[in-house]
Amino acid sequence: MKNAINNESKLKIAELLKPILADQFLLYTKARNYHWNITGNMFFTLHIKFEELYNELALDVDETAERIRTYGLNAPGTMGEFLKLSALKEEAAGNYPDQFNMAEKISDDYDFLASRINEAGLKVQKEFGDEITAGKLYGTAERYQKHVWMLKSLIEKK
Ligand SMILES: [Fe+2]
Repeated sequence: MKNAINNESKLKIAELLKPILADQFLLYTKARNYHWNITGNMFFTLHIKFEELYNELALDVDETAERIRTYGLNAPGTMGEFLKLSALKEEAAGNYPDQFNMAEKISDDYDFLASRINEAGLKVQKEFGDEITAGKLYGTAERYQKHVWMLKSLIEKK
């Protein structure tokens, strides 16, 4: 069939999704950390927002992991693998940024992830002709861009 994605391509695409899964898992953990440890006058807003975000990320990691499985690879599933594969940085243990910095850091991570996912989407689309995976990636990147806008708007000082 024309445009069918061969197995070799599927494995390469799955490999490409691994660092995205790791980033999503790291961001999930960071949003939980901030949800638990935020203090300040934006407590209620951000405490709830971070919860919304980690709940969404919990669904996202599942989507990405199961896409990796669909294309024939095992999904990374240990903290060690996630830390090795992710480009995002965690806080040092016991280090809690102030509420503005928490929102900014989460926003910056979403911004980075949206770019990384868009780049992966382009590769998947152009190199492998896999519109289905590309479409999923673009949809995720679009949502993440919206989170960047909202978080940036919350902390804008004017
Ligand atoms: Fe909670």
